[in-house]
Amino acid sequence: MNGHEAGVSGLANLFVTKRAGSTTKPKPADGVSHAAAIGCTMSGFSIVGSGRYLPGRPYTNDDLARVMDTNDEWVRQRTGIQQRHFCPEGKGASDLAIEAARVAIEDAGKVPEEIDYILFNTMTPDHVFPGSGPLVGAALGCPGVPALDMRTQCAAMLFSLQMAQGLFDAGVARTILIVGAEAHAGFMPWRDWDVLDGKEGAVRTPGDFERATEHRGYAVIFGDGAGALVLEKRDHATGILGMDLHTDGRYVDQLYIPAGFRTRPYINDLVLDQDGILPRMVGRDVFKHAITKLPKSVKKALKEADVTLSEIDWFVAHQANDRINDAIRERLGVPAEKVPSNIARYGNTSTATIPILLDEMRRDGRLQSGQLLCFLALGAGLHWGAAIYRT
Ligand code: UT7
Repeated sequence: MNGHEAGVSGLANLFVTKRAGSTTKPKPADGVSHAAAIGCTMSGFSIVGSGRYLPGRPYTNDDLARVMDTNDEWVRQRTGIQQRHFCPEGKGASDLAIEAARVAIEDAGKVPEEIDYILFNTMTPDHVFPGSGPLVGAALGCPGVPALDMRTQCAAMLFSLQMAQGLFDAGVARTILIVGAEAHAGFMPWRDWDVLDGKEGAVRTPGDFERATEHRGYAVIFGDGAGALVLEKRDHATGILGMDLHTDGRYVDQLYIPAGFRTRPYINDLVLDQDGILPRMVGRDVFKHAITKLPKSVKKALKEADVTLSEIDWFVAHQANDRINDAIRERLGVPAEKVPSNIARYGNTSTATIPILLDEMRRDGRLQSGQLLCFLALGAGLHWGAAIYRT
């Protein structure tokens, strides 16, 4: 099926057809379980290709200390991060995404024309609108293929897997490209990148240093990159076995960018004077949400999948802070060797994190067929959840 056909015939399937023998569970009051959301017999699927792309050179914690009051010891101890990459000026999330997607498609032994659907995730799009998905599809060489921009931040992988499952079940697609890419560099709180680079003659101003220090909580954790996965529909029992997914907009202001279409014009002097284009993050509160909500989600997803905690081979967690994952691991009673970490090298790459980590695990041989994975993530929104996946 090519992308254009998928777009037309798929819609008919999605809205009209309900499969024979389908079952619909009642919706739980506090979130959406996988089976309830899908409401029908589920298809299997496999990850058949993956890729990642990290732009430019890594920036160390010492590099950041040139532009704000921070230090390597604090960042390492409080987050586990040692370095991160930044998207170069003039490039956007779509440029990073394309690099990772090309690698993933080739890894899957496919050509772009074989992709039926693109699920694109970013919280730092190239433009205010449209989303970056169309740019990715066009640059890859598959114009006409539906490209859905999804905005669920660090929880993007969970939402993408559930959406992919629905598309497979609806007969819309047999091959789906999921990409997560971030260009957080655009919201970093320093003004002079030459100072960050330690360029000769570059001088930091006290005002810029003070401003960046005010925003150091988020500035030290985010890094840029892209990760891509190619999913293929299967007739056998691989794919998602259980899922617990939630959104709670009451906590939007714990991690968000104030600028938007509430002002006229939407970027004006007042917005700029108040630094409304920079993120606000109440780090301690987001931290607490993650370590209390995610263990509960893991337990619910395990129950739905009818799988025990000890049967899980890998807990593939979002990488926002090593201390978050340590706390979740301890609460659940999971050994450290089952919770892979790459935050030291990349920082928090938001929507790109889980596909980047999965790509590393596939390529270094940690990921084997027949294994059970538990994905878990929480991000701005708040959006969070866990999914049990058989490779
Ligand atoms: O992926 C999206 C979701 N985001 C998250 O999951 C982020 C979750 N939150 C976190 O990871 C952590 O809250 C942070 C890493 C952001 C902050 O760590 P923390 O342990 O919660 O630090 P804090 O904000 O409570 O600050 C502790 C101290 C403060 O100093 P005082 O008041 O104790 O003197 C801060 O001013 O550390 C100071 N501090 C810093 N010092 C050096 C805060 N940020 C920095 C910094 N460098 N970058």
